[in-house]
Amino acid sequence: MGLIPDNVIDEILTRADIESVVGRYVLLKRQGGNMWGLCPFHSEKTPSFSVNPSKGIYKCFGCGKGGNAISFIMEIEHLNYPEAIRHLGGLYGVEIPETGYNGDNIQKEEKNRVKDILKEAAKFYYKSFIDPDIGKPARDYALKRGLSKQTLDNFGIGYSPMSWNALYDVLAKKGYKDEELLKSGIFAVSPKTNKPYDLFRGRLMFPIFDSFGTIIAFGGRALGDEKPKYINSPDSLVYNKQNHLYAMNFARKEQSKQLIVVEGYMDAIAMHAAGFKNTVAALGTSFTDSQLKLCARYSEEVIFFFDADNAGQKAALRAIKMMMEYLKKLTGINIRIRIAKVPDGKDPDEYIRTNGADKFKEVVRNALYVEDYLLERAKNDNTDPETGMLDRGRYQEDICQYGSWMNDDIKKSRMAGVAAPLLGATQQAVMSQMQRYSQVEDKKLEQMNSRSLERERREDIERRNSAEGFEEVPDPVAPDESVPAQPEFRKVNDSATKEEIALFGYAISLGSALADKKLIDKTDIIRPEDFSGDTLRELVKIFLNICDGRNETLYARMSDYFSRLTINGMPAEDVMLKAVETADRCSDVKVKSDMYLALLFKVRESILNREEERLINLLFGAGEEEKKKINDMLRRISDYKLKLRNRIGDL
Ligand code: UTP
Ligand code: MN
Repeated sequence: MGLIPDNVIDEILTRADIESVVGRYVLLKRQGGNMWGLCPFHSEKTPSFSVNPSKGIYKCFGCGKGGNAISFIMEIEHLNYPEAIRHLGGLYGVEIPETGYNGDNIQKEEKNRVKDILKEAAKFYYKSFIDPDIGKPARDYALKRGLSKQTLDNFGIGYSPMSWNALYDVLAKKGYKDEELLKSGIFAVSPKTNKPYDLFRGRLMFPIFDSFGTIIAFGGRALGDEKPKYINSPDSLVYNKQNHLYAMNFARKEQSKQLIVVEGYMDAIAMHAAGFKNTVAALGTSFTDSQLKLCARYSEEVIFFFDADNAGQKAALRAIKMMMEYLKKLTGINIRIRIAKVPDGKDPDEYIRTNGADKFKEVVRNALYVEDYLLERAKNDNTDPETGMLDRGRYQEDICQYGSWMNDDIKKSRMAGVAAPLLGATQQAVMSQMQRYSQVEDKKLEQMNSRSLERERREDIERRNSAEGFEEVPDPVAPDESVPAQPEFRKVNDSATKEEIALFGYAISLGSALADKKLIDKTDIIRPEDFSGDTLRELVKIFLNICDGRNETLYARMSDYFSRLTINGMPAEDVMLKAVETADRCSDVKVKSDMYLALLFKVRESILNREEERLINLLFGAGEEEKKKINDMLRRISDYKLKLRNRIGDL
């Protein structure tokens, strides 16, 4: 931290106001000075997630998560500190200089090497594809599948020759080291020779791009019936398949309000070729919440094509349940979900090839809203195909289950309205039964959550307590230059008295007013030595460093440090927030500074008391000479205490 310049972080925290940052994910309602909503980090029905706009922080009283705009983005988007800053910079128009800290640069360097390797590989696959001899089988296959020259070029499709080392040799010759090549995910390692060899052999190669068009992985299809049909490169430094969607780099550019999600690479390609350029494909996994979030970033409606087979239909239900749960939680994300079905159990690629793009347009148009799809599912799944009889018991169960997934009452009510006549019941009765299911579901979720929350909370406190502590400032001269000085860690003493905590609270609340000489004498500014425990000493040091007149973001900047520490065994942010809020209640700065001074004198007095006690203990068994010295010191202390007393009286 602190390696992206402070003024940039300050700019981010000023522009990216916590209300709007959180508001993208959570529906917030004002209540008093704070905003409240459903916590996006754990499942709950009554809001315990609060946002404090004036302090620039959020806090969940259910799961304990809290921090500023940057930590919110880190948590919800799974980013590290510099990444979160960049993300916010992009959203709020703050330019972030390309410095970063060293560790980050090394990672970045490594990632860039991997991306270079993948780009070189794509070139190699492309060359092999157009090579008159080597590429012939692949070109024949592409022709058979109706891929035009334009489509092939557009998607960068290539061919991996039938060889164990063709790609390896090319890249090794270009100077890439074995360990770099292995990081790219497109090589495997031979247990016999310990050398990398080509993972893809004799396959039609699909480069996988991120949303911005950089190659991050490959999928390779067998040209015949050999198994497996597709091989995909594994997750790597630059690729996490759960976070990407195939062809999003093209679909994003359409700026369409609608995205179409299909299952296969070939489906996406066929749809683009047929003019549906707003199509993306899940990458051989079940659809994930982070893929949904990616869609929500670029569109307002997602139309899903799931495979018509049993497995595909099961996957559909799973995905819908996941998405509805997710939308219940992240109330700030608004996206409509529709489910389409290709007639005759075909996949979109096959359907377009036999029926043409116009017919397919109709299929897209006929996509059902998620609640209607579920109504139909419940009916079809429970109707005997021979007799046409409805199994009413099961139908009821499915309907109530599906209804309980809905994130709004209108959808619920619509489902209940359609199902009621089939169940011979009133819409009201079906609604309340759905409600009961929701409660059971929510209970289950909450129980699961409260167990895991409790565990998380324990682990959090343990982690903070066992933290190696603060880095000891290394000696100016390392004893032995050849041995790099290792930072020494010591166990943290996190204890603090009530007065110390209150004092620090007032100091933060005063902020830059502390430096106002008319209010507070320079010698009356808190010092680390005024505090008895390590944690407060360290926090005060940091506070004195960053307290520089930018009061609006002061608390948010401090909260970065709180999140790693405890005070008296409790999360530092909880303890300090309370203390600062108490101090904030003083609206008159003169009154506030008097309170501050009174606390300061009390704290300093108790330091003197402790010192007195220590010296008195030393008196016993001291020699004459020493006794004189100690008595001298005791006299000075009591003088100083008197002065403090008088000043307290003057306040
Ligand atoms: P499908 O089996 O439906 O294949 O797998 P497909 O997309 O219709 O492929 P073609 O038309 O036969 O060429 C759908 C998706 O599941 C993943 C791939 O992403 C594929 O596009 N998949 C499938 C694999 O990752 N590995 C496999 O062996 C099969
Ligand atoms: Mn197919």
